[in-house]
Amino acid sequence: MTQFADSPHRYGLVTRIFHWGMALLFAAQFASAAAHWALPRESTLRDTLWSYHFNLGATLLLLVLLRGVWGLWNLRHRPSESGLMGSAAKAGHAALYALMITVPALKIIGSAGSTRGFSYLGLQIFPARETAIGWTNTISEWHGTLGWVLAVIVLGHISAAVIWHQVIKRDDVLQRMA
Ligand code: HEM
Ligand code: HEM
Repeated sequence: MTQFADSPHRYGLVTRIFHWGMALLFAAQFASAAAHWALPRESTLRDTLWSYHFNLGATLLLLVLLRGVWGLWNLRHRPSESGLMGSAAKAGHAALYALMITVPALKIIGSAGSTRGFSYLGLQIFPARETAIGWTNTISEWHGTLGWVLAVIVLGHISAAVIWHQVIKRDDVLQRMA
């Protein structure tokens, strides 16, 4: 029978859909950020990849909030490790959540105080202001740097799952999320 909730031996269907669905969406979001950073302004590939950055970024923020609520609901009966590696995994997951929330939130707060405003899927959420607010602009300048910090932690997370758990330790950590 399909198990929706998490158990100490395995993540349930809901957590696995959140995890792998959002991993794909993050890959697309980092592709758009990389294109913004690396390609010349006149590149059509840059335009195409950048065209969804705001909407997908805001969607990821909504999804991570739902995923966080589901994670807290399931916290007591999720798979967990004891010892130093267990604490490192918990710290790594907490850092991923903190950045998955902070990175898009900073830019949305920045847009709320800007002369451009913010629209989501064509719906105006914050109207354009006549004058920009200084502090919202300042904090939103951290968005790009923290976005790259998130990308580095994601790479560390994938290496820990694949190289440490799957290749070196050969335990069942990858299987319980698969
Ligand atoms: C989890 C979601 C997000 C991630 C991982 C992410 C990641 C990034 C990264 C890594 C950059 C740096 C690109 C470069 O170096 O050129 C960037 C730039 C940018 N992002 Fe995002 N982003 C997200 C959500 C958003 C949202 C929701 C908005 C709009 C409300 C947004 C607007 C921008 C803008 C305007 C830039 C241009 C450079 C800057 O102003 O910092 N992003 N993003
Ligand atoms: C190929 C890509 C990925 C692989 C192989 C992978 C693998 C895994 C594995 C095996 C676990 C369970 C670890 C444990 O129980 O100790 C896990 C959990 C987790 N992963 Fe990933 N992951 C990938 C991509 C990502 C991405 C892109 C993110 C976020 C940006 C992410 C965020 C998380 C989080 C927050 C958890 C904790 C459980 C949860 O709340 O969902 N993962 N991952």
